[in-house]
Amino acid sequence: MNVSEFLKRAAGELSEARIESAHLEAQMIAAKVLNIERSKLLLRMDDELDAAEAVKMIERRKSGEPLAYILGEKEFFGRTFFVNPAVLIPRPETEILVSAALGIAQDQQTTLDVGTGSGAIAITLALEKPSLRCIGCDISSAALSVAAKNAQTLGADVRFVRADKLQPIQTNSVDLVVCNPPYVDDQDEMLDSAVRFWEPRIGLFSAGGTAFIQALIGQAQQVLVPGGWLLFEIGYGQKHLVQAMLSGWTEVRFEDDLSGVPRVAIAQKR
Ligand SMILES: C[S@@+](CC[C@H](N)C(=O)[O-])C[C@H]1O[C@@H](n2cnc3c(N)ncnc32)[C@H](O)[C@@H]1O
Repeated sequence: MNVSEFLKRAAGELSEARIESAHLEAQMIAAKVLNIERSKLLLRMDDELDAAEAVKMIERRKSGEPLAYILGEKEFFGRTFFVNPAVLIPRPETEILVSAALGIAQDQQTTLDVGTGSGAIAITLALEKPSLRCIGCDISSAALSVAAKNAQTLGADVRFVRADKLQPIQTNSVDLVVCNPPYVDDQDEMLDSAVRFWEPRIGLFSAGGTAFIQALIGQAQQVLVPGGWLLFEIGYGQKHLVQAMLSGWTEVRFEDDLSGVPRVAIAQKR
């Protein structure tokens, strides 16, 4: 089967399976199989491609598996991160958190990414501001392996530590704590079934949606230096609860995502 024939067949099948961006995804799969950039596909329409591999990928996608796991990669902040089902797929909203952290972080500061997953946040901060001392921690060893692999591939200087939240981190030792916490209520019925089924439970759920955040705020208060900053992502509708949890902090503010939903909480330790 050549590329042109594959794209026609794959886009048709993906549309039938109600995949929204069927044409784009078919192209991404073809480009992956050919090991070329998607922008080069147009020049390769008559090339033969490994039909067995490509069709297998289409079947996986039709069964609902996220494209990022099938391709084994996801773009974040303009870079390609390796992902597998041990890590949450980095989301565009999390780029807001990274941008906010870059606006606050000063040269040489120690920055801790709690629940680093694929390492997307810590690695991006280290690459965008190489003078930072970046540490990524996660309770999942499998996630830490993915993060370490990404740091190596992307050439980022990040130290990874296995930790339950911030427990092993020294008091008054960190300038900036950043975190995309698990913030989905474990009782939430509205969560997209693909997310619920395919992505790691430990990366998503927290009791009542905010139990992890509550613990994070308490522990960050201990590990941050006076005047240090805490930045973390929040879920839909969590702003007021989180605001109350941050009552002992100063300079508290929230950044909205593109839909106007408060998405990132920012607070400074007094
Ligand atoms: C929402 S994911 C964020 C992943 C990544 N930082 C990102 O933004 O794409 C939350 C991460 O927290 C980790 N995690 C869950 N419970 C944890 C705990 N008690 N201590 C440390 N990390 C934890 C999960 O393994 C997961 O990697």
